[in-house]
Amino acid sequence: MRIAVINQKGGVAKTTTAANLGAALAQNYGSMPSVPPQSGPASGNAAKMRPNSKKNPKLRLIDLDPQGSLLRYRKSIKGAVFHAPHADELRALLEEDAPSVVDCPPGLDDATRDLLLAHTDIVLIPLQPAYDALIGMVRTIETVEAAQATNPRLSFKVLLTMYRGRPSARQIRDDVQAAYPDNVCKAIIPYSLVFEETAALAQPVLSHAPDSTAARAYLKLAKESLTWQ
Ligand SMILES: Nc1ncnc2c1ncn2[C@@H]1O[C@H](COP(=O)(O)OP(=O)(O)OP(=O)(O)O)[C@@H](O)[C@H]1O
Ligand SMILES: [Mg+2]
Repeated sequence: MRIAVINQKGGVAKTTTAANLGAALAQNYGSMPSVPPQSGPASGNAAKMRPNSKKNPKLRLIDLDPQGSLLRYRKSIKGAVFHAPHADELRALLEEDAPSVVDCPPGLDDATRDLLLAHTDIVLIPLQPAYDALIGMVRTIETVEAAQATNPRLSFKVLLTMYRGRPSARQIRDDVQAAYPDNVCKAIIPYSLVFEETAALAQPVLSHAPDSTAARAYLKLAKESLTWQ
């Protein structure tokens, strides 16, 4: 599963989402067998979680932002391999079809965006519930729909972030769910000041504040993402 975190609008939690989803996937699901046992006394949830000799390849965290924002998490996210590839390297990485989370800059250039959309399974669109962020979401969905002509595996998910539950935010949530009923993540990331600390420290919230609602929300997103087939 190759997930690209894209929204042309800046500051909507793309990097925060790539880092925290990446950390949750790498820490909690990295040792899951790629083929769960089907039958016998060892079947069931415990067996499914047991490390298996046929493990998934390591999660790739791919930073396409020249600012290197995701790369800052290199030391704090264990169990993932970080990349900051040029275009040719990106193509090769994506063509291998290994589990990946790609962090994109706000103004992703057309060539990189086209390459990414041709070799991605899910475009994850973080949406801060504000009307200007909706424009970035709609433009991103349009590019996804255009790319589906050549990449039928491609789909998108909208992730509400920085959510405070105010009436205007609830209205945006309801409108987006009504417009794209199959494409809105069940996980909603709450607004939380803990992200100021984790961004400054370049640490995932799962290790900095594992019991926080923010950490639980990204964990829920990670579990949900495993169903995006
Ligand atoms: N759920 C949240 N609650 C509060 N603050 C948040 C939340 N998620 C992210 N932030 C903060 O919002 C700011 C922008 O987040 P981030 O850098 O992830 O956005 P971005 O979309 O990657 O930005 P850019 O477009 O510049 O790459 C950061 O200061 C981050 O700590
Ligand atoms: Mg960023």
